[in-house]
Amino acid sequence: MAATDLERFSNEEKRSLSLGGHVGFDSLPDQLVSKSVTQGFSFNILCVGETGIGKSTLMNTLFNTTFETEEASHYESAVRLRPRTYDLQESNVHLKLTIVDAVGFGDQINKDESYRPIVEYIDTQFENYLQEELKIRRSLFNYHDTRIHVCLYFITPTGHSLKSLDLVTMKKLDSKVNIIPIIAKADTISKSELHKFKIKIMSELVSNGVQIYQFPTDDEAVAEINSVMNAHLPFAVVGSTEEVKVGNKLVRARQYPWGVVQVENESHCDFVKLREMLIRVNMEDLREQTHTRHYELYRRCKLEEMGFKDTDPDSQPFSLQETYETKRKEFLGELQRKEEEMRQMFVNKVKETEAELKEKERELHEKFEHLKRIHQEEKRKVEEKRRELEEEMNMFNRRKVAVETLQSHSLQATSQQPLKKDKDKKN
Ligand code: GTP
Ligand code: MG
Repeated sequence: MAATDLERFSNEEKRSLSLGGHVGFDSLPDQLVSKSVTQGFSFNILCVGETGIGKSTLMNTLFNTTFETEEASHYESAVRLRPRTYDLQESNVHLKLTIVDAVGFGDQINKDESYRPIVEYIDTQFENYLQEELKIRRSLFNYHDTRIHVCLYFITPTGHSLKSLDLVTMKKLDSKVNIIPIIAKADTISKSELHKFKIKIMSELVSNGVQIYQFPTDDEAVAEINSVMNAHLPFAVVGSTEEVKVGNKLVRARQYPWGVVQVENESHCDFVKLREMLIRVNMEDLREQTHTRHYELYRRCKLEEMGFKDTDPDSQPFSLQETYETKRKEFLGELQRKEEEMRQMFVNKVKETEAELKEKERELHEKFEHLKRIHQEEKRKVEEKRRELEEEMNMFNRRKVAVETLQSHSLQATSQQPLKKDKDKKN
């Protein structure tokens, strides 16, 4: 086929054709379902809320099981993320569920940095996924996806307003994860207060520009229920794994001296609404939003940071090869510059050391000359002294000789004198 024919063909509108009989591709959705079921699903929940707010109890109530729970202490020096993964099965569907607890949240005196470990944890999971995607041999098919699909933000039931810690944390997280705010231990707050509290929370979230997860209304099948439920946010929940007999039925409830709060009674709390929205209706949307919105944003920022672009300055598509080449050139240029810088630094250092050594040598030489001069001076003085002493010794010797001569003369003289006297006497 000539190139022009090919172009015309591809530009033509697609024609609808009817089939003469059953072909079989109507089973594609079933094939997809069957493949997904075999593969299993993963779902990762992040629980953020102060210590003892009822996170573990709610998780146990939601999944109707008993996860490992370990009471957190109030003395953590910083917020720490603790993930735990479980394999759950319902009918023939396998779910790899990871529950991540933000241990120690709200316990530090200085809470300025409380959000940071949470953000870092979420980013690390995105980074791990991105690294897997960028590998030459990718295994995304059986990759354990640890990206957080939903963050349940537990609000303390003060009945007053949100704390600044809540607002700051949710604001930092809202572009990274689907946030569902819930009022914890809703049985500790009266019905009218709860109503006002919910309105206050929503207005504070809006005025601070915090984007919480909205149940999707674009799918007709769930549009109605989701839009009704959006109006109920934040859900006020009660958790309990204790079973109490109400009428002739055993129900999960919290029993008080004045009555029983039934977890699954919609006139008592919003637990059922939360379970419906989180697990039964929107679990797949939460997974999808995580991939298409939050991860996409992370990936885009990261790739842009690395220098990748979709278009060049002339709005022409940028190929991966070109980007790679440009980056490579930039990198090599930078490497060369660094190498030259280091070489120059080395030369300067050598020069400096050489100059220092020369200076030291000159100083030593001067010192030596000085000492030599001193030594010569000393030697000269010693010589002089020696000469003086020698002269003195000569003089002394001369004097000694003179004295000795004198003494011998006088001795001779004295020995001759009696003889003379005798002679005189005889005469
Ligand atoms: P840490 O993991 O230690 O931070 O605690 P947590 O947030 O997991 O709280 P946990 O579920 O261990 O519950 C702490 C206490 O709160 C327990 O005594 C629970 O029985 C109680 N509790 C949990 N949920 C509720 C609730 O909905 N209402 C009331 N009134 N108490 C609750
Ligand atoms: Mg716990």
